Amino acid sequence: MSDQNKLALDFLETCRIRVDTELDRCIDRSSASERLQEAMRYSVLGGGKRIRPALCLAAAKALGQTAEDALAPACAVELIHAYSLIHDDLPAMDDDELRRGRPTTHIAFDEATAILAGDALQALAFGWLAGTTRISESARLMMVQELARASGHLGMVGGQSIDLESVGKTLSLTQLETMHRHKTGALIEASVRMGALTAPTVTETALNSLSAYAKALGLAFQVQDDLLDIEGETEVIGKPQGSDAAREKPTYPALLGVTGAREHLSALLASALDSLGDFGPEADALRAMADYVVARTH
Ligand code: IPE
Ligand code: IPE
Ligand code: MG
Ligand code: MG
Ligand code: MG
Repeated sequence: MSDQNKLALDFLETCRIRVDTELDRCIDRSSASERLQEAMRYSVLGGGKRIRPALCLAAAKALGQTAEDALAPACAVELIHAYSLIHDDLPAMDDDELRRGRPTTHIAFDEATAILAGDALQALAFGWLAGTTRISESARLMMVQELARASGHLGMVGGQSIDLESVGKTLSLTQLETMHRHKTGALIEASVRMGALTAPTVTETALNSLSAYAKALGLAFQVQDDLLDIEGETEVIGKPQGSDAAREKPTYPALLGVTGAREHLSALLASALDSLGDFGPEADALRAMADYVVARTH
């Protein structure tokens, strides 16, 4: 294992412990419906690499802020991500029965509960972020806007819609990139930008560099996800291998071949790292995360 990869794994593990404790607190046990609560906890707390929270914390660190400063937006983005996965797996969408090595939420519970758990997690994300007192009101408002844009029709949900409309079609490279930028890239970019916004003195230049990093990384993330769907093993990736091909999903490997997709991935990594050129060692966690995202095996 390279030093960079070890740094990323250590950083991810530290973030995971912090974020999981906070998420556990966030989805407490009091709810109008015990079953709904159970489904929410099942979906959020049952594993997950916590890459988005780690990116949020790493961006904050690059600007001299502590992990505690960025914990609320980190949790908020993970709650949105968890909701997106529950809905992504539903029979009306990808119809997958395995996620994080366990039955998907609609299998473990039922479809209606899964839909509602997703809905509730989305609302919880915004409530949690809006309610944190650690971040100034003006920064919080900007973060709520970032997260709303990245989650909705201009971001993740818009991308998921393109994904479903594109089944069985051959997209051009530009169309494929647009889809990926929305369905996966938007939330990854929001993770980094929210982390950066925890710094009261963040400059437009720094924010632009970090956004460029996150844009390249967000795309790289989905290219690697598409490759793992082909080359990974179900036991390792924790979700059904071959799901994209079975559902005729447009993916990078489908368009460029596995080798072409790998080359594209390397170019995206180089571009992400290049965007951090103005930063010193304070951005090493971001650099390590980029290496990890393209080399990950699950
Ligand atoms: C999977 O995301 C869904 C995509 C956006 C491709 P992750 O690979 O981050 O999933 P978890 O949270 O670690 O399970
Ligand atoms: C979905 O992409 C990304 C989301 C917005 C949830 P995929 O459908 O490829 O994600 P996996 O492979 O099921 O995790
Ligand atoms: Mg999908
Ligand atoms: Mg899917
Ligand atoms: Mg996938």
